[in-house]
Amino acid sequence: MKPVYLAVPAATLLLAATWMAGSAARAEEKPKSASPIYGVTIPDGYRQWELIAPAIEADPLNEIRSVLGNRKAVEAYRNGSLPFPDGTVLVKLAWKKAPSTEFAPATIPGEATTVQVMVKDSKKYASTGGWGFGRFVNGQAVDEAQHQTCFACHQARVRDHDFVFTRYAR
Ligand code: HEC
Repeated sequence: MKPVYLAVPAATLLLAATWMAGSAARAEEKPKSASPIYGVTIPDGYRQWELIAPAIEADPLNEIRSVLGNRKAVEAYRNGSLPFPDGTVLVKLAWKKAPSTEFAPATIPGEATTVQVMVKDSKKYASTGGWGFGRFVNGQAVDEAQHQTCFACHQARVRDHDFVFTRYAR
């Protein structure tokens, strides 16, 4: 009786160990998608960061957006200090506008569209105002052509605010 009783958990353990080793290997095989030109990735834990401000985009984009910042970003905003220090990271989430099915006057986030990231590193990104850029769709960085547009627009319009559009919404 005893060998049979022992054989079951042993086999289960072996299976579990094999499965765990396999999934660890798979996790390593899939590196995070990095943006062309800048090598920016989606930062870990950004969804727990603080809200800086929302934004609404009219036609044709029709989006609701939220800009979140890490601790360095939030401190700089609260102190009103510019330029943002190295290590500042800003993440913009975007969704298509959707009508609420539960309350007609309300517009709510529909399908998620992009996650965009700006990372401050004044040495590494000296030629683009100290900012590295990344745009991601479904977690994957978009092409180089799109990344060539980022700094040009931010530079043309918000050079005097350290190339950052978003102001802190109090
Ligand atoms: C044609 C202009 C334009 C281009 C091109 C552009 N942005 Fe922006 N970006 C904006 C505006 C306007 C905002 C302010 C928030 C909003 O309205 O969405 C913004 C906000 C951001 C923010 C939040 C911080 C801030 O500056 O307010 C990030 C992060 C960002 N953009 C990343 C990118 C990346 C990455 C690219 C290139 C792939 C890019 N942007 C290209 C106009 C632009």
